[in-house]
Amino acid sequence: MKDKNHSQKPTHSATAIAHPNIAFIKYWGNRDDALRLPLNSSLSMNLDGLETRTTISFDESLNADSLTLNGILQEGAGLARVSAFLDSARELAVQRGILKPELQKRYFAQVVSENSFPAGAGIASSASAFAALAMAVDGALGLNLPEAQLSRLARLGSGSASRSIPTGFVEWHAGQDDESSYAESFAPPSHWDLVDMVVIVDRGHKQVGSSQGHPLARTSPLNELRVAGVDERLKVCKNAILARDFEAFAWATELDSEWMHAVMRTSTPSLRYWTELTELILWQVRYWRQQGHALCTTVDAGPNVHVIGTQNELDFALPALKALPGVMDVIVARPGAGAGLI
Ligand code: DP6
Repeated sequence: MKDKNHSQKPTHSATAIAHPNIAFIKYWGNRDDALRLPLNSSLSMNLDGLETRTTISFDESLNADSLTLNGILQEGAGLARVSAFLDSARELAVQRGILKPELQKRYFAQVVSENSFPAGAGIASSASAFAALAMAVDGALGLNLPEAQLSRLARLGSGSASRSIPTGFVEWHAGQDDESSYAESFAPPSHWDLVDMVVIVDRGHKQVGSSQGHPLARTSPLNELRVAGVDERLKVCKNAILARDFEAFAWATELDSEWMHAVMRTSTPSLRYWTELTELILWQVRYWRQQGHALCTTVDAGPNVHVIGTQNELDFALPALKALPGVMDVIVARPGAGAGLI
C-alpha cells in the first residue's frame, strides 16, 4: 500500500497485522546471534485473536526513526532494536534498487504499533511485532518480497517472528545461513481445531528476556543433547499434527518444553522461569490427560503455561483452569493466519 503524496518529499507508508505464535518444538540458542541463525529447527502455531497492528511511514523529512508502542513513545533498547531492524530493511531496499543509495542512511521512519494482548501476559510480543513490522516495511517500500524472504527479514528482528509470517502451522528451517533459514507453513489454520489456553499466573516482566537468554544456551552441558534430539521430536510433532494424533503431539510437545527448560536451568547463570504455580498446572494437566482429556502443556521463557487442547476440551478445561488457586486469567487462542497488509 503505497502512499505517495504530492509534496516534494514523498512518504511511503503501510499498515500490517501479525499474530504471535506458540512453539511446540522450541527455538533456544543461536549459531549466529547477529543473524539469528538458530541451533535447531522449530515448529509453531499462530495464535488467532491476538494481534499486533503496525503502521510505518518512511519520510525524507524525518531526522531519526521513532517508535510508539501502545500509545507510548519508546526510547532506549526498544527503539534501538527497531532502528537496527530498519537499517537491515533499508540496506535490502538499496540492494534491490528500490531505495537510492544516498538515502540508505537517512530515510527514517515513524513506527506506530499496538498489541491487542496485554504486555507481560506470557505471550511473546516480539514475534508478532517483528512479523508485522517486516510486512509493513515490505508494503511501504514496495519490496514485494516472496514469503520465504519476508520470513528471513522478520527473523533478523526476532527469531520467532520468522514463524509469524506464514499461515497456520509452521516450521522454521534452521538452515545453514541467512538464505536458508526461514519458516514455511505445513498446514492451514483450519487443519486442526486446537486451542491454546494461556494460563496467566504472573503478569510481571520476565527477568531475562529471550534475546539475552539465547547466548547462555551454550553454557549448559545439556545443550548438545537437547539439540541432538530436536529433529526426532520435530518429526514426531509434525507428523502428529498432520495426522491429528493428539497423544503423539502431546508427547513431543511436552518433552521438548522440558528439554528447553532443563537447558535454561543448567546454564550459567541459571535461568529458572517456573514458579510453584507453573509446576502445579503442569501436574494438573498431566493428571487430566491420564483421565482421558486431550490436553498438554508447553512453557516459554516465563512462568505462564500454554495449555494446548482440542476444541472439544474447552468446556471442561477453561473453567477448571480458571478455578485453580493463583490463576489470574486464561486467554484463549485458536490457530491463526500469517501476517498480512491491511
Ligand atoms: C522460548 O524469538 O523471543 O519463546 O530472536 O532474541 O527475539 P529473539 O528470541 P525469541 O525467542 C523465543 C524463545 C521461546 C521459544 C520459541 O518461541 O521457539
